[in-house]
Amino acid sequence: MAGSRLWVSLLLGASLTFWASAVWPWPQYIQIYSQCYTLYPNNFQFRYHVSSAAQPGCVVLDEAFRRYRNLLFGTGSWPRPNFAGKQQTEGKNMLVITVMTAECNEFPSLESVENYTLTINDDQCLLTAVTVWGALRGLETFSQLVWKSAEGTFFINKTKIKDFPRFPHRGLLLDTSRHYLPLSTILGTLDVMSYNKFNVFHWHMVDDPSFPYESFTFPELTRKGSYNPVTHIYTSQDVREVIEYARLRGIRVVAEFDTPGHTLSWGPGIPGLLTPCYSGSLPSGTFGPVNPSLNSTYDFMSTFFLEISSVFPDFYLHLGGDEVDFTCWKSNPNIQAFMKKKGFTDFKQLESFYIQTLLDIVSDYDKGYVVWQEVFDNKVKIRPDTIIQVWREEIPVDYMKEMEQITKAGFRALLSAPWYLNRIAYGPDWKDMYKVEPLGFHGTPEMRNLVIGGEACMWGEYVDSTNLVSRLWPRAGAIAERLWSSNQTTDMEFAYKRLSHFRCELLRRGIQAQPISVGYCEQEFEHT
Ligand SMILES: *[C@@H]1O[C@H](CO)[C@@H](O)[C@H](O)[C@H]1NC(C)=O
Ligand SMILES: *[C@@H]1O[C@H](CO)[C@@H](O)[C@H](O)[C@H]1NC(C)=O
Ligand SMILES: *[C@@H]1O[C@H](CO)[C@@H](O)[C@H](O)[C@H]1NC(C)=O
Ligand SMILES: *[C@@H]1O[C@H](CO)[C@@H](O)[C@H](O)[C@H]1NC(C)=O
Repeated sequence: MAGSRLWVSLLLGASLTFWASAVWPWPQYIQIYSQCYTLYPNNFQFRYHVSSAAQPGCVVLDEAFRRYRNLLFGTGSWPRPNFAGKQQTEGKNMLVITVMTAECNEFPSLESVENYTLTINDDQCLLTAVTVWGALRGLETFSQLVWKSAEGTFFINKTKIKDFPRFPHRGLLLDTSRHYLPLSTILGTLDVMSYNKFNVFHWHMVDDPSFPYESFTFPELTRKGSYNPVTHIYTSQDVREVIEYARLRGIRVVAEFDTPGHTLSWGPGIPGLLTPCYSGSLPSGTFGPVNPSLNSTYDFMSTFFLEISSVFPDFYLHLGGDEVDFTCWKSNPNIQAFMKKKGFTDFKQLESFYIQTLLDIVSDYDKGYVVWQEVFDNKVKIRPDTIIQVWREEIPVDYMKEMEQITKAGFRALLSAPWYLNRIAYGPDWKDMYKVEPLGFHGTPEMRNLVIGGEACMWGEYVDSTNLVSRLWPRAGAIAERLWSSNQTTDMEFAYKRLSHFRCELLRRGIQAQPISVGYCEQEFEHT
């Protein structure tokens, strides 16, 4: 058997060994052989190749080595394996890592190359990558290849992997306005994102219900707009911690401050920012979207987004722009007068005026932006490098038609419409999310190249830290694999086997991931 090739299709039939390896998301090219090597936890180390651009002191990799050593072997010491009656296998006591560039103190970006190769054979145990971010992806794969026999011995099979992501933007959105999510919950989510090779945390920070972001230029925003200005806010220290924790896992933080709609929580802190709604000829006491008719609105936005641009290092900010309700604008005589002066006949023109002004402000801060699809649908003039996020399922058109229209117009697109994890249904609903083909629209290769990826969204109306983890995992994994793996990785039976196994691996790692079907995990209680 030693050295014989086991192709993917053969794996389907093979019964999984006790805590056997089953990689999620599936690599682009992988060969696993039936020959295997023993790993000795007490001696095992990760080591930099002498020719690697990164060397000890590279915090991204030093920290990753520490994390993966713990994930693989825990912190305890291990007895010498007992081979009585077993075939003797060759031991491996190190994984050697080599990277071509050492951006150990930088941030990952949309352009970061995450390619890696992993070679485990008689001669070597080697991980090579262009960047440290690619090395992180390879370390995750390595950790999923290690398995443990019933006797407690660790093994890794002879393996050859050449891997890279299909899409460069693989995101997960968390909503911290409908419900406040404690810092530890966000950090925990970043960990599991890295197990899934997600690389963008889309932080939908604020919305109508609450404003938890503590602004140093406008502290009244949280004082008056958060659920609790002491306990339910993200201080600048918290935000820095999230950004660094994410960076160490190769995850970008794209912050969203959605305007002009979804802004009720901004109102109390910034009097005059929101549009007063009228009932007949008098203000009704309620407020609508940001008031686009006042210069003071743009003065505020300039100052606010100057702060945001410096706090969040990623090149991209998410500026929202979705679901603007025109009822309040319609009711307000000052807005009507402003529109008349500007010659606007349609409220979409007013919305466009606001968003265009905002986009110009943010462009001046050398930031790129992501917006929700309405900004494109309403024909706002946007910079050619704008990224449009598609979220609406059927209205005004099917989401695949929308992808077609956006890319036809030359804009980059992100897909989210079929990936709303907050929607739950009885049964294995991950399957529909898994089956989505992001490039399943009519278009040229150039248009397809404009699809940079997608995002799983977890809106927070019915989700807080009590149910977030089980609702996210392993369902979000379906989307992670669709965005990472090849378009040929579509076999449902193969996906089901590996996702079940991955869910068990998440449990082993202490993540309360929900089951995807009937069954049990062999090693569930083993490490407690
Ligand atoms: C790894 O090697 C073991 C021992 O030869 C074999 O039983 C198992 O099927 C191999 N695993 C994979 C995924 O090929
Ligand atoms: C990464 O892999 C992709 C797919 O094989 C390839 O097109 C690209 O050139 C690779 N990038 C680098 C820098 O090796
Ligand atoms: C608002 O700014 C515009 C352009 O700078 C200017 O023309 C206009 O007079 C200002 N309006 C008020 C009320 O200050
Ligand atoms: C997968 O992508 C390749 C190009 O990368 C394309 O030629 C092929 O048609 C696609 N296959 C499917 C099933 O979509």
